[in-house]
Amino acid sequence: MCHYCGCRHVSLIRDYIAEHERVTDLGGDAVRAIAGDDLERAHRCINEMAALLASHWQGEENGIFRVMQREDEYASYIAPLIEEHRELAELLATVDVGDRADQERIRHAVAELLEHISKEEDGLFPASLTALSGQDWDEAMAAWRDAHPGVEMMSD
Ligand SMILES: [Fe+2]
Ligand SMILES: [Fe+2]
Repeated sequence: MCHYCGCRHVSLIRDYIAEHERVTDLGGDAVRAIAGDDLERAHRCINEMAALLASHWQGEENGIFRVMQREDEYASYIAPLIEEHRELAELLATVDVGDRADQERIRHAVAELLEHISKEEDGLFPASLTALSGQDWDEAMAAWRDAHPGVEMMSD
């Protein structure tokens, strides 16, 4: 297997994208559950989202973000993404699904999450394919594994 062309590493990006899909599905489910006044279900979806995002963010922030942040060009792009992680974590941890204002916050946050994800999938991830060295990829993958103990990475 070669070390620098990126071929063996795209699985990491694929895992991040698969996690985005699971999280946006859960976000959509939570919003629909709120609209249907199924608060128990909304609460469950939000908790599941929070758990998934905790490991997803750990993998990103300690991995692909950290190695890309070493370049000024990407550091200023990544800093607000990390802030957005913290803001959403705070909301998910404190939201009261029965509260009208919080319900609106969740709807807003789910819409914002889609924008956040597109900044990663359409901006950062494609850039990573040319920006990262073989060693960077190893570091990014190690961070993903640390964030997902006992979980296998998707195969190539
Ligand atoms: Fe993110
Ligand atoms: Fe992400």
